[in-house]
Amino acid sequence: MSLETLEQDILAQVSAASDEAAIEAVRVAALGKKGAISERMKSLGSMSPDERREAGAALNLLKDRVSEALGVRKAALQEAALEVRLAGEKIDVTLPVRPQGTGTVHPVSQVWEEVVQVFGDLGFAVAEGPHIEDDFHNFDALNIPPEHPARQEHDTFFFNEKPDGARMLLRTHTSPVQIRTMLASKPPVRIIAPGRTFRCDSDMTHTPMFNQIEGLMLDETTTLANLKWVLTEFCKAFFEVDDVKMRFRASHFPFTEPSMEVDINYAREGGQLKIGQGDKWLEILGSGMVHPNVIRAGGMDPDKVQGWAFGMGLDRIAMLKYGIPDLRAFFEADLRWLRHYGFRALQVPTLAGGLS
Ligand code: PHE
Repeated sequence: MSLETLEQDILAQVSAASDEAAIEAVRVAALGKKGAISERMKSLGSMSPDERREAGAALNLLKDRVSEALGVRKAALQEAALEVRLAGEKIDVTLPVRPQGTGTVHPVSQVWEEVVQVFGDLGFAVAEGPHIEDDFHNFDALNIPPEHPARQEHDTFFFNEKPDGARMLLRTHTSPVQIRTMLASKPPVRIIAPGRTFRCDSDMTHTPMFNQIEGLMLDETTTLANLKWVLTEFCKAFFEVDDVKMRFRASHFPFTEPSMEVDINYAREGGQLKIGQGDKWLEILGSGMVHPNVIRAGGMDPDKVQGWAFGMGLDRIAMLKYGIPDLRAFFEADLRWLRHYGFRALQVPTLAGGLS
C-alpha cells in the first residue's frame, strides 16, 4: 500500500470515529507499537541511507498529519459529548420547589434543635468544646485523677502518645465543656453544651459515637431546687406533655457532690411509650451540685460560687420522644430509615410554633 493510500485510509477512519473509544482504537491501529505507521518506521532500518532519509521524512510528516487529525477529531467528540451531557442534566432553576422534597432532617439534629430551643427560652446559652480533648479537661479538672476507677468506666479512645508523653483522647462526655466555659467566663454561668461524645462500646444501646447535652448553672445561690425546676420545665416542654413525674436517685459522679440520676415516668400503651403517664421509670440523665474541686479547676472560688450540672443522652431522649427502638439505626445512614423518622427540612422547631 502506498503512503498516500495509507494516509487516506487512516484519515477516513478518523472522520468515521463516532466516540472517544473509537478514536483511540484508530490511534492505536496507526501509531501504537504495532500500528501501521510504526511498522513502516521499523522497515527504515533495512534501507540505504539515501532511501532512508527520504522515506523517513515522508513518514514523519505522515505521522504529524495523522496525530493532528486525531487530536482535532478527539476534541470535537469530547465537546459533543459534553454538550449532550449538559443538555441531559439541565435544571430549570426557576421551577417551583417540589411539594415533598426527599431530604429530611435527622432525628438527632431535630432533637438537638428542640433542646436548644427549650433551654434557650429558659435563658441558657449554647457552649461548645473540641471533640479531641486532653486529659486535663476530660478527667483531671473534673476531679477524676489518673488512678480514679471512673477512668476505666469511660472506655476512652486514646490517640498515640506525643513526644512529651501526653496522650490526646476523644472526649468521653460533654463535661469538659464545663471546665472550658468556667475558664473562659465569670459567674453567673448558664449554658448547655450539646455535642458528640465517644466511648469504645457497641451494642443495642451503645454506639462508639453518641450525643450528650451538658447543662451548667453557676452563681452564688443556685441550688438543687433550681435544677429540679429547670429539668421539670424542660421535660414538659420537650416531651410536649402537661406534667411529668421525676425521680431523683442518689448516685455518684466524681465531678458532682451530691449526685443524682434522674428518671421520668412513662407508660407503655399498645407498644407505644407515653412519657408523663403511668408508673414505670426511665433514666434520662446524671446530675448533681458541681464539686468544689471542679469549680476550683475552672478558676472560680468554691466558697463564693455554687451550682449544678447535668449530662443527658441526646440520642436517648430522641428515641423516647419519637419511639425509635434501636440506637444503632441512628448512625447507619439507611435512607429508608431516614425517610421514615426524618423531619421536614426548613421546619424549625420553636416553642411558639410547636417543637415537633
Ligand atoms: N458526664 C456524666 C456522664 O457522661 C454525666 C454527668 C454530667 C453527670 C454532669 C453529672 C453532672 O456520665
